[in-house]
Amino acid sequence: MNNFANVQTLSFKEHGDERGSLVVVEGAVDVPFDIKRVFYIYGSDATVIRGMHANRKSRFVLINVAGTSKVKVKDGLGNETIYLLDRPRMGIYIPQMVWKEMYDFSADAVLLCLASEHYEQEEYIRDYDEYVRIMQETDCGK
Ligand code: TYD
Repeated sequence: MNNFANVQTLSFKEHGDERGSLVVVEGAVDVPFDIKRVFYIYGSDATVIRGMHANRKSRFVLINVAGTSKVKVKDGLGNETIYLLDRPRMGIYIPQMVWKEMYDFSADAVLLCLASEHYEQEEYIRDYDEYVRIMQETDCGK
């Protein structure tokens, strides 16, 4: 399963008026899955690299609701893309079995993560060599 080509940026509608802005993210409407889990990351800085894993089951949408950060995605077979998350109305969709690293956090960054599954430690692949092996073995390059 090589989902690298299915990583994509999402642009959410902004409901803005003189009171400010409001962005709605509905499961299975604005993101391509029902949202089962929400977590957010803050207090990281430009020296930190987070993530560094792939998930066998979970799909994610990441949104910098405040500040900025970068997300690097890889397929372990030579494909790699870096996305800059710098707007609260922008998201990045990361399907399962894509390696991800979040880094270069601004001091004010709040990275909101929406997930398709409940937390299950066992479905995380945290060893990059193991990830590459799995991707090679399953002929994901084709
Ligand atoms: P971790 O996966 O290392 O975060 P990141 O992907 O941002 O690098 O998670 C940090 C800790 O939080 C770790 O002890 C596991 C725990 N955790 C949960 O209990 N539930 C969750 O949904 C997540 C994402 C993490």
